[in-house]
Amino acid sequence: MTLQLRVYVPPHPLIKHWLGVARDAGTPSALFRTAMTELGRWLTYEAVRDWLPTIETTVQTPLAPCPATFINTEIPVVVVPILRAGLSLLDGAQSLLPLSSIYHLGIVRDEATLQPRCYLNKFPQRFNPQTRILITDPMLATGGTMTIAMDELTARGIDPGNVRVVSVVAAHAALQKLSVTYPSLTIFTAAIDETLNEQGYIVPGLGDAGDRTFGT
Ligand code: URA
Repeated sequence: MTLQLRVYVPPHPLIKHWLGVARDAGTPSALFRTAMTELGRWLTYEAVRDWLPTIETTVQTPLAPCPATFINTEIPVVVVPILRAGLSLLDGAQSLLPLSSIYHLGIVRDEATLQPRCYLNKFPQRFNPQTRILITDPMLATGGTMTIAMDELTARGIDPGNVRVVSVVAAHAALQKLSVTYPSLTIFTAAIDETLNEQGYIVPGLGDAGDRTFGT
């Protein structure tokens, strides 16, 4: 069976609204942070829809026994924010996944070569292979950062089919690269943009997501 990268752009009015706020260059940093939190929340809501493990059981209502479905907390759910900008989506994601563990991964892009490199990795030696991983990274530009993140995860026992990515803007270049490097990934994004400029920024994009989040 040939695997094909799955990319979802949920047609949700709240996602469209907060994307517009985030794209607007006139949005001040405090409101930009709100927009990213809300995008993290609604994109995570869409991403976990058919993905969070559940168990079927029965509860007793005040009147009668009744079938009930609960989140199966025996299967670990982990959120991986890619520093720095991935932190902007974390609060929204965590509001829906309060029991998840957070493992930080720092990846920086060398401004001269534009090549990403990992400078911080808080992963355990091995993950439980059943672990569900949600990666937050608002800008998928070249796909280089996400490929490094996936290399680090799969080296520690994670099945790429159990990984979902929440991003805000994904460029065609990133999707093309990931469809080769990790075709079993599933990506949830608010928009797909056409181009990258010479500095590797997505156009129209929303600028430097880290700078705009942290006001630097
Ligand atoms: N990182 C950003 O913050 N913005 C882009 O457009 C590309 C990468």
